[in-house]
Formats: sequence, C-alpha cells, structure tokens
Amino acid sequence: METNPLFETLNPPQRMLMGPGPINAYPRVHQAISSALIGQYDPVMTGYMNQVQALYRNVFETQNQQTLLVDGTARAGIEAVLVSVLQPGDKVLIPVIGRFGHLLCEIAHRVGAAVQTIDIEWGEVCPPEKVEAAIREFQPKMLATVQGDTSTTMNQPLAEIGEICQRYGVLFYCDATASIAGNELKVDAWHLDAVSAGLQKCLGGPSGSAPVTLSERCVEVINRRKRVEAGIRTAAHQDGEDTPILSNYFDLAMVMDYWGPERLNHHTEATSMLYAARECARLYLEEGATQVIARHQQAGRAMAVGLEAMGLRLFGNQQYKMNNVVGVYIPEQINGDLVRQELLHRFGIEIGTSFGPLHGKIWRIGTMGYNARQECVLMTLAALESVLLKARVPVAPGQAVAAAMDVFSA
Ligand SMILES: Cc1ncc(COP(=O)(O)O)c(C=O)c1O
Repeated sequence: METNPLFETLNPPQRMLMGPGPINAYPRVHQAISSALIGQYDPVMTGYMNQVQALYRNVFETQNQQTLLVDGTARAGIEAVLVSVLQPGDKVLIPVIGRFGHLLCEIAHRVGAAVQTIDIEWGEVCPPEKVEAAIREFQPKMLATVQGDTSTTMNQPLAEIGEICQRYGVLFYCDATASIAGNELKVDAWHLDAVSAGLQKCLGGPSGSAPVTLSERCVEVINRRKRVEAGIRTAAHQDGEDTPILSNYFDLAMVMDYWGPERLNHHTEATSMLYAARECARLYLEEGATQVIARHQQAGRAMAVGLEAMGLRLFGNQQYKMNNVVGVYIPEQINGDLVRQELLHRFGIEIGTSFGPLHGKIWRIGTMGYNARQECVLMTLAALESVLLKARVPVAPGQAVAAAMDVFSA
C-alpha cells in the first residue's frame, strides 16, 4: 500500500546553510527548544523571562531596562518599534543602503509617517555627513537604519551617526537582525534608542523571535501613546496623551507591561522560542562577544579570500563588508540558480541568491553562528569549485581551499 506523505514522519534533509540566513542552529539551541512547556505565569517561566532580559542587555551592550522579545520573526521587531514610536505624520529619515532600508520605508509609510530617504548606491554605506545634512534640513523625529543589510552585504557604521542623532535630539533606531553577534554593536555607547534583531543569523538560532531594546527616551515616547485594552484594564490604568498605537499585537507599551512587574496579560509568550533565544544569548556570552565576533571575522575573511583565489570577483565596497556574509559576482557564462541547485542537491549546501538589482548578478555566501567555522568554509569552497569546474568555468583548481586554510592557520 502506498503511504500517504501527509502521515510520513517529518524528516528534513541535513543541509549546510551557507546563505545569508537562516543558518544551522547551534545543537544546544535545538536541545533548548525541545524542553518541557510550562504556563506563562509559572514563576519558573517569568523567571526565565527576567533572565532573557538580563542576557540580552549584555548581548546588546546596554543598561536599558526595556530589553525583551517580540514574538515573531525579525520583521515583527522592526514593525513593533516603528508602529509604536511613529504616529501618523511623524517625520522619519531613512538611509537606504539595500533592500532592508526599503522595508523600513515600507513599514513607516504604512504607519502613516512622513518618510524621507537618503538613497545610497547598493554596495556602499551612508556617510555620516549626509545624515547630518538631511537631519538639519528635514528635522525628523527618528532616524531609522539597518546595520548589516544582507541584500548588499554592507555594514553601516553607526557610532558617528549615533553621536549626530544625540546632538540633534533625534531618536535613533537600527535593525541589527543580520549583524548582531557577528559585528560590533554597542547600543549605549553609540546612543541607539531602539534596536531590533532576530535569532537566525549570527546568534545561531531559528527565526521566530525578535530581541528588542529601547532606551528610556524611547520608552517615554511609546508610553505617551499607551492605552491598556479593555478586559484587563483597571481604574488605575491611565491613558497616554498621544495617539494610540495603531497595532494591538505590536503595541510595545502593552508588551512592556507584560514583561514588566505588572505582568499584564497581552499575548501568550512563545515559550519554545524564548528557550531558543535564551540559549542563543548564553552561547554568545559564554564564548565572549570579542571571540565570537573575531570568529565571524576570520571565517568571513577566509571565505572572501577563497572566492577571490578561485578567480571570482567580490561585490561591494569591501571596506564595509559585513563579517558574516559576502557577495560574489556570478561568472557571466553560467546560470547562478543552476549552480545553487547543484550545490544543494549534490553537496547538501545552500548558498543565497539575491534581490532587486542584484538578482541573477551575485550570490551571497554566509558564515554565521554555528557555521562560522573552518569546516563549513572549506567544504563550501571545495563544493563550489567542483560545481563551477563541471560547468566549465575557468576557476583556478585547488587555490580557494588553500587560501582559506592559510587564513585559519595565520
Ligand atoms: C537586515 C535584515 N532585516 C530584517 C530581516 C527580516 O527578518 P525575518 O525574515 O526574520 O522577518 C532580514 C532577513 O533576512 C534581514 O537580513
């Protein structure tokens, strides 16, 4: 009798995920996810919530009390910050260095904000002088930016922009989904008011939880919009004086009350994802921020050096390349998607395609979290070389792996 695939046991293939994320999770994160479920007000659970807050304050390098998880993928964290801070008509300035800058604009537009962009050529980053000039002219409430834009593999420097925002009293938000834990990110030292992230890149977890941190200044802005929903509201709850937040699920004023001492019911915290987020942070902090970032730097450099040694050309201004992902031009004579398929089906290795103007022009190869390791880099280079040779691309055999090994033994 034929078996019905709907009733087959889930058995996904083993892949090595070397794209721009998601990547393979650390084994300890898988273990954490499978831990027993408990109730959302079990003191053990609320204890874990407090631990997660403390752990992510360290990951974000911040003292911000309001450091918590938004349940959803990284985009949920972005949307929660933007919808909670920006009222219709509020001005927001957005440097667009790639696809995820466009995402910030898209969300800000839907929120009803007045959006002004600084459009940067893909493969470059936004110079601080441009930000300062635009702030003077436009006088925004908030500057919203992306640190590592995986679409272009560029890492936007933030320290100087933070200092400028501080000087002009502009709230400074950053989407650090793709850069956190693989590149320096100093929330307090760089005067960031709001940062959101995801687990599925250098933190080495699955997608589905968005760590967020908010400065006191940002919390005040959000709480001025506070409206506790009916059914849980008591006479003691005061409305804020500003327009209510236009989303219920992403209402950070209510989410903060759920994570805070009042434990005011909002959503049901995604327990298994909280376990994952907790383990990701523990792994990062146990190994040490400096060491983890250095490991990403080394693996990323080895991958880039290996690709160049093979004879391929890297995309974008390498001075600003993210440590954890590299863009590489697809040789002209071949179909990039067929090469990706060969890598996946013959070697079980996934690398990334790209979006928008770069689609069909570059591949994106990641070295993140659990996969920021020598074995992963060498296997990917060896496999790519074999597939390219089979497609009769004139790459230099043997050079890539040797060059990458040198980076690891230097
Ligand atoms: C920089 C950046 N921001 C946001 C996202 C969106 O993340 P998610 O798909 O988890 O919502 C991604 C995902 O690739 C990203 O790279």
